This record gives sequence, C-alpha cells and structure tokens, in this order.
Amino acid sequence: MGRFRYQATTEEGKRISGVTTATSIKTVDLEQRDREKRVEKILHRADDADIGKYDHFMMKEICEQPAALDRSMRGRLDAVLGSSRLGGLQTHEARLFDIRNVVFLACGTSLYSAQVGAYLLNRYARLPAVAEDAAELSVKNPIVDRHTLYVAISQSGETADTLSALREIRMRGGLCAGITNVVGSSLSRETDFGIYVHAGPEISVCSTKAFTAQVLATELLALRFARMRDLSAADGRLWVNALESISAQVGLMLEQAESCKLLAQRFYQSRFTMFVGRGANVAVACEGALKLKEIAYLPAEGLSGAAMKHGPLALIEPGLPVWALVPPDVTRERMLGNLRELKARGAHITAVAAGDDEEVHSLVDEVLALPPHHPAVSPILTVIPLQLYAYYSALKLGYDIDKPRNLAKSVTVM
Ligand code: AGP
Repeated sequence: MGRFRYQATTEEGKRISGVTTATSIKTVDLEQRDREKRVEKILHRADDADIGKYDHFMMKEICEQPAALDRSMRGRLDAVLGSSRLGGLQTHEARLFDIRNVVFLACGTSLYSAQVGAYLLNRYARLPAVAEDAAELSVKNPIVDRHTLYVAISQSGETADTLSALREIRMRGGLCAGITNVVGSSLSRETDFGIYVHAGPEISVCSTKAFTAQVLATELLALRFARMRDLSAADGRLWVNALESISAQVGLMLEQAESCKLLAQRFYQSRFTMFVGRGANVAVACEGALKLKEIAYLPAEGLSGAAMKHGPLALIEPGLPVWALVPPDVTRERMLGNLRELKARGAHITAVAAGDDEEVHSLVDEVLALPPHHPAVSPILTVIPLQLYAYYSALKLGYDIDKPRNLAKSVTVM
C-alpha cells in the first residue's frame, strides 16, 4: 500500500488533512497541529463477517466458539507456573498486589459473564468481588477506593451505561480495566489497561461467542489473582490444563445440537421456561433465560436453586420445561434437592450434567452430557445447550433470529 492523502473542509470552513500509510495515520486537528494515531492490529480474517454456509449469524457464532476460545487463549497460559499471562496487567503488577476488591461493571449478557468472573475471584483467588449492573451505578453514588480494581466488560465496548459507569469511577480516581471484543472501542481507550477477548466480529444481536470469550477472560484474570494469593502451582496447573482442553470440550457440547433442536420443537409454545443453577451457574441460568426472551420472545426466568422455594416454585406445574444445570461440583448435592422438588411437581426437567451421573439421570427427563472438566470452567460448557435451545426455539417460531424486535447490537443510549 502506498500513501493515501486526504483533505476535507469542516463546517466552519477550516481545512483539515491527513496522510495514511500501511503503518501509520497522520492527521492534523482543527488548529492544524500534528496528531499521530496509534496503529492497532485487528486479528480478523476476511470471512469472519461472512455468513458462509449458515442460515443465521447466531448459529455461525455459536459454532465458532471453539475457535474463538482458542484465539482468546493463545499465548496467555503459562503451563509451567500454572498461571496466566495478560499483557495489559503486566504494566500494573505492583498495583495489582494491593488490590483487595474487584468490582465488575457490565450490562446484559456481559453482566452475566461478569457474575461468573466475580464467583471465580471469590472462590479461587479469595478476593472479594461483585458484578454490578452498570446501568444502576449512576443512582448509587459509588464509593471508590484505591484498593479496588474496577473491570468493565462489554462486547462492543460502546454500551452507554457501561461507559458512563466507567467514566464516573475514573473521575473519582478508581483503577479501571476493560474486557472487550472490539479493538479500539471507547472502552478500550478509556481504561487503564485491558484484555481483548479476540472472539472475532459478533454480528447477531444475540450474544453467544462473546459470552464464552468474556468468561474465559475472567478465568484468566481470576487465575492470575489466585496465583498471586492463595492457589498453589499444582492447582494452578490443573486450571491451566482445563483451559487448554476447553475448546475441544465445547466441540463435544455442540455435537448435542440435535437434542436441543428436538427439545425446542417440543416446547416452543410453552408459556414459561425456568432455568436453574447454583454457584457460577446461576449466571448461566440467567443467560439461558435471556437468550430465550431475546430471540424467541418466550417468558423465561433464570434463578438460583436456593431461591426456588422462596417463591418461583409456585410457577411449576406438570409439563413445564425446566433446565437444570447440575455439573459435578460443590453445587451438585443441593441441585439434586432441587431436582426432587421439581420432579415431585411434574416439571419436564432437562439437566446439563455429567454423562455418567446416574442419580441425575434417575430424576430428570433427559440429560445433555458434560465431559469431565475442572469446576472453574463449567459455565463455558453449560451455556452451549442453552444457546442452541434458544436458537432452535426462535427458528421454529419463524422469528428474525439475528435482528430481534426492539433490540440493537450496541445500546449506545442510556
Ligand atoms: C445479549 O444477547 C444482548 N444483546 C445484550 O444483553 C448485550 O449483552 C448488552 O446490551 C451489553 O452489550 P455489550 O456487551 O456490547 O456492552
């Protein structure tokens, strides 16, 4: 590529100009002062934004998840130290050592990925962490302190509520990191450091591959903090091994698409669907419900198994579809109790559980099988059938899957 020179006239009649080459962009501002721009390399292939053999971008993006996760992880795992390497963090290592709290800021699906991140930091790094709905921050008059790291998560990096929360925190002197998919987005420019998730362009309004890539970014962050604090090298290596296997395991979950399709064809007219999980999978249950509302326009609720008997159990009636997330971890025993309550009331239960979990099999109508995995990575696996179920439900109902009514890909107004 040679040099490309451009000239333009502003509304006030001022002449502005710039020169673009393969490696630089030079512009002048309205006062004719030189302004050099930074060149960022975007790792997209030409066919990333092409629908290819798929009928909808959503299905393409669901199927791209193994590749997206591999790309997100590339060069970021340290198998020897049992830790993660995040370029953005390295310049702030000294300050990270003094971090005593983490507050995530995000909206929608990104908020659910943030909730997973908060869970991982609490559980594995023993670092108090919460996920805040960025849209609510403005009414909270937040207390900002020097020992808190604020992490804004946004696929687009342009969500107005998230940016507004970020600006409020920065104005008060808070240390802000960003997790985003879009290189050069407002979020990436307005944070102190960040993690690009490199999921590739997400075209469908309904977020899928960005969710799993964002969860992965929070896994890398939590692993780094966990190794700085409480986690042994041996346990860190187990987590690293689990992350190295995750894309192949997502592939195994995708192979169960036909079962999700049959379930969607059976329940697409249900007046209500419930998604239940515990621990990190409460956020996945909420994400499953959001997908179904967003593209199939079906009323749905995602909740903690612990909350069921405080009200939502009253909604259960014979034949009502319930998705239960029952991975083989610390949540399993209590989820078994939920399954018994649901079965006693005649719900049609689909469990996402270990393929060889006979006890779960005996309590539910069908099981979508999880491969053996480290408990920290289960949200990346359990969400896959929920994405597929929402897709096939919307397909059966004949809706415009990639452009659901009333919604925009990037919500740039508050
Ligand atoms: C997800 O399917 C939605 N389209 C929506 O909830 C979205 O995640 C939310 O608007 C936040 O967007 P962002 O990640 O670009 O900030």
